[in-house]
Amino acid sequence: MIKGTALRFLFYFRPMKKILVVCLGNICRSPMAHGLLRDKAEKRGIDLKIESAGTSNFHVDESPDNRAQEKMKSYGYNISDLRGRQFIPSDFEEYDEIFAMDENNYNDIIAQAQDRSEREKVKLFLSEINGENLSVPDPYFGHEDGFEHVFKLLDAASDNLLKRIEDE
Ligand code: 4NP
Repeated sequence: MIKGTALRFLFYFRPMKKILVVCLGNICRSPMAHGLLRDKAEKRGIDLKIESAGTSNFHVDESPDNRAQEKMKSYGYNISDLRGRQFIPSDFEEYDEIFAMDENNYNDIIAQAQDRSEREKVKLFLSEINGENLSVPDPYFGHEDGFEHVFKLLDAASDNLLKRIEDE
């Protein structure tokens, strides 16, 4: 009886998962992933702290790129409230999992880790798709269709990540 109650307590009071998604500028890929995870988690009733950041300080306090906002809007996601901020080493303490969008972002984050436990928190976001360690291509200098491709990748990885969190 006590065991059953304790198990139920653990089930209902699972600590909130804290996730950080990171790209270079924090105005294209990571705010798109941020918006997807935020809305999908809410729809699925998953208690999630989700934030995004850039490895650079190029676009601190800026809104997401218009092309990213428009692409997200076309699929029903509003990310106009998000603002750019830079990754800081204390993010290693705050977040359970840190997802890099590409290999450069991954290496830049890993270079700031103090120890193995911090390094182990860092993964490529697309590793959530069939465990493939692929990069999300940077759409900033490309054409509009790059954002469609990025959206599809982020959408699939977000669904898989949330399913994994639900199953944990
Ligand atoms: P993001 O894209 O890393 O997906 O936000 C970029 C945004 C800005 C720059 C590069 C990539 N930039 O060089 O300013």
